[in-house]
Amino acid sequence: MNVKDRVAIVTGSGQGIGQGIASVLAGAGAKVVVNDLVPERVDEVVAELTAAGYDVTGHAANVASAEGAEGLVAAALDAYGHIDILVNNVGMARDGWLAKMSEEDWDTVLTVNLKSQFLMCRAVAPHMMDQSYGRIINISSRAWLGGPGQANYAASKGAVISLTRTLALEMARYGVTANAIAPALVDTPLFRGLKDEVQERLIKTIPARRIGTPEDIGNATLFLAADESSYVTGQTLYVCGGRSLGAG
Ligand SMILES: NC(=O)c1ccc[n+]([C@@H]2O[C@H](COP(=O)([O-])OP(=O)(O)OC[C@H]3O[C@@H](n4cnc5c(N)ncnc54)[C@H](O)[C@@H]3O)[C@@H](O)[C@H]2O)c1
Repeated sequence: MNVKDRVAIVTGSGQGIGQGIASVLAGAGAKVVVNDLVPERVDEVVAELTAAGYDVTGHAANVASAEGAEGLVAAALDAYGHIDILVNNVGMARDGWLAKMSEEDWDTVLTVNLKSQFLMCRAVAPHMMDQSYGRIINISSRAWLGGPGQANYAASKGAVISLTRTLALEMARYGVTANAIAPALVDTPLFRGLKDEVQERLIKTIPARRIGTPEDIGNATLFLAADESSYVTGQTLYVCGGRSLGAG
């Protein structure tokens, strides 16, 4: 899976899954632009990956705003001169029953999870089309299938898949692929904060009987980001230990 010297932007890579993706891509030889809303997180991940001998740079920005997304793309071009891979990883949840959901919780989740991906794709698309090469990987979620208390989150993650499929159709002739990854339960600070018995109960819903790791998502991303995946586009890859299959 070749990504050597390819330039990759990974949004929201200051912790969690994004950090795992940045680490796997950098380890495979990509030049990685680490982004997060929180500057300290960017600095920590850049320091860690630089100490490991990888070629990375950081840029803190809010990618849910056009200014932030365009600034990140400009910073990546300044640092490396081109962009080959975009991983739209930023995401958040504000769960609650639809009957009681505030407009603010709806708008915030849709803006952060979906609009950020539109803005980032729009900012890199002309550049990738010009160079006739690109790999766009959008992080969705198994939750797009629907889940009680997650109307805003599920709708945003379903729309990410529609966005990805449309982008794939528009960009295929330019050598640019667009695919989505749908993780389920992943070992992030959120999961580790749950009580032991809740963690155990959730793990029992995963056919593989283990929690996913950020590296699991990173490895799937590496496949979709590599030169060799040029004929794979518009797809959604579940990385969830079988949880999307419906039977535990
Ligand atoms: N953790 C899971 O079990 C799980 C499962 C399925 C899908 N996902 C998806 O994976 C992605 C990453 O999830 P995670 O659990 O690692 O989340 P996380 O909250 O641990 O990390 C997300 C990072 O993104 C940053 N961020 C948030 N909004 C931003 C913005 N507007 N601009 C720049 N950075 C921003 C945050 O500061 C944070 O560091 C999300 O899209 C999430 O929906 C997670």
